Amino acid sequence: MRPNIRKIMVSTSGGDAPGLNAVIRALVKRAILGYGWEVVGSTAAYNGVMADPMDLIPLDMERVSGLLIQGGTILGTTNRGGPFEFPVQGTDGQWTTEDRSEDLIKRIRSLEVDAVVSIGGEGSQAISQKLFEKGLPIVGVPKTIDNDLSATDMTFGFQTAVETATEAVDKLHTTAASHNRVMILEVMGRDAGWIALASGIAGGADVILIPEIPYDIAKVVERVTTRQRGGIKFSIVVVAEGAYPKEGVPFAQESNIVGRRQPILGGVGRWLVKQIQEATGHETRVTVLGHLQRGGVPCPPDRILATQFGVAAADLVAQGKFGHMVALQNQNIVGVPLTEAIRQYKYVNLDHHLVHTARGLGVCLGD
Ligand code: F6P
Repeated sequence: MRPNIRKIMVSTSGGDAPGLNAVIRALVKRAILGYGWEVVGSTAAYNGVMADPMDLIPLDMERVSGLLIQGGTILGTTNRGGPFEFPVQGTDGQWTTEDRSEDLIKRIRSLEVDAVVSIGGEGSQAISQKLFEKGLPIVGVPKTIDNDLSATDMTFGFQTAVETATEAVDKLHTTAASHNRVMILEVMGRDAGWIALASGIAGGADVILIPEIPYDIAKVVERVTTRQRGGIKFSIVVVAEGAYPKEGVPFAQESNIVGRRQPILGGVGRWLVKQIQEATGHETRVTVLGHLQRGGVPCPPDRILATQFGVAAADLVAQGKFGHMVALQNQNIVGVPLTEAIRQYKYVNLDHHLVHTARGLGVCLGD
C-alpha cells in the first residue's frame, strides 16, 4: 500500500562529494512537482534536528534553483558521530558519545515528517538501516567519491574525482618529461583503489598502486629503472592513499576527533619518494591531491547520475519502499535493500576489467 506522504526530510552526511546539491535539487523538484510534498533539510547531517532550537532549511523550487552545478552541499555535512554515537560534552568539558537515536526519531516525528531521505556513504547507509529497524521510514542515496559502496555500480561524485585526478596526472606528465623525474600522485579512495585505478588508466600512469594489491617496492623500482634504460627518463606513479607495501600496513593516523571512526589516511606518497629515490638515484617528487578531489562543479555524468538518484529517491518514498537505497545496476536505476548495500565493502575485485586493462597495458600494479 502506498503511504500517505505530506512532508519529507533530507540530510547529507559524511565527506562531501560533487553532485550532492544536484541530488537535493532533483529530489525537491520530484517531491513538489510530482507528488505535491513539502521538503525540509536538516543541516550538518542530523545535527540540525538534534540542535535546540532545530536548524532546518525549508526546500522549495526557488531554493534549489541553480543547484545542479554547485559543488558541496547547501545543507552542510559532518563525518563525526551520528545518532548512535552522538558527540556530547560532559559538565567536566570532556567529550564522549552516546546513543541519541530514540531522541532523533522523536524529534523527526514532532516535525510531522513522514519519510527521510539520507544521502551518504557506507557509514551513513549503515546508520539508515539501524534507524529503519527502529521504525523510521527512510530511503538512502549512495554518495562518495571513493565508489566503495556495494549494490550500486557507481556512486555519484566518483566520476568528478576521477576527472580531477586525471587532470592532475596529465599536468604531472608534462613536468615529469621536462625534468626527467619520477612523479608520484597520491589520490583519495579510503580502503579502495577505484580512483587510483581509473585515473591511472585515464592518465596513462606507468605504475598504479591500490590497497587491494599490497605492493612490492622492488617491482616499482624495476619498472622505473627499465623505463630509464629504455630511454624514457620519466615515470608517473598513481598511488591510492590506502595502498601499502607487502608485509606493511596502511599509512593511517588514528583520529582523536570524538565520534570519528575512520582513521585519517595519507603519507604513502612521501614514503615512496624516499624508497624510489634511494633505489634508483632518480629525482622523485610527490603531489598529494587531497580534498581537491571532493570539491568543485560535478562533471556531466555525475550531474546525470545525481539527478537520476534524486528523482528515484522520491519515487521510492512514494512507493513506500523504506529501508531501501537507490542504486545504479546495469544502466538502470533501481531500489535495493539497505542491508544489501552495507553487506560488504566494495573493494576493487582483482578480476575486474579495469585491473585486466591495466595489466594488458603493461602497467605495474606493484605485484
Ligand atoms: O570518503 C571520502 C574521503 O574523501 C576519503 O577518500 C578520504 O580518506 C576521507 O574522505 C578524508 O576525510 P576528511 O575529509 O575527514 O579528511
